[in-house]
Amino acid sequence: MSATPGAPVTLAITGASGAPYAVRLLAALNAAAVPLRLIVSAYGLRLLAEETGIEGIDGLRAATGDWSAVELYQPGDRGGTPASGSAPSRGMVICPCSMGTLAAIAAGTSRSLIERAADVALKERRPLILVPRETPLSPIHLENMLRVTRAGATVMPASPGFYHRPSSIDDLVDFIVARIMDHLGVPFASNRWKSGEVE
Ligand SMILES: Cc1cc2nc3c(=O)[nH]c(=O)nc-3n(C[C@H](O)[C@H](O)[C@H](O)COP(=O)(O)O)c2cc1C
Repeated sequence: MSATPGAPVTLAITGASGAPYAVRLLAALNAAAVPLRLIVSAYGLRLLAEETGIEGIDGLRAATGDWSAVELYQPGDRGGTPASGSAPSRGMVICPCSMGTLAAIAAGTSRSLIERAADVALKERRPLILVPRETPLSPIHLENMLRVTRAGATVMPASPGFYHRPSSIDDLVDFIVARIMDHLGVPFASNRWKSGEVE
């Protein structure tokens, strides 16, 4: 089964630096009323707290708009809907994506709901967008990125450009979020700058 238009997007937040990207992306998808299946890893929650001051799922809910189209799943629940290939889906985004989760996807281990949902997206030939952040990159990181790309994923490193002369961290965050929204095919009404200017 390939991507189903209008079906939920699975959004996973893992423990790489870059929690502000996740917050902005979740708020933008909620503003666009995109149905979501949300999974946040334990380290995803830790990075949300350390980098944005958002504490726990309740804090994330309070910071990201209308959750009426959000279904929350526990990362340890490998029987949750995102684990099923027969559940219609528009695709999956992991933002940010830790090198640990990237490696697990590259190896097909499926030991958490996030890893399993990504594995399902690849086998069902649905969009899988990974937003890793690490520097420098080891040969293992690079090989894992190549491996998942060859399997059908889109690796979209959290490396914003500067040619639009960003004047704030929000501008830099929106640069990446606009690229993710473009790949999902969801209009992104940034009030900070226009997504059409992004390359
Ligand atoms: C403060 C902090 C910053 C981190 N930054 C990164 C990072 O930028 N990239 C990365 O791949 N891992 C980073 N890590 C390590 C991951 O959180 C760790 O490998 C974790 O096991 C990932 O698990 P998860 O993918 O299930 O969230 C960081 C950890 C901490 C505590």
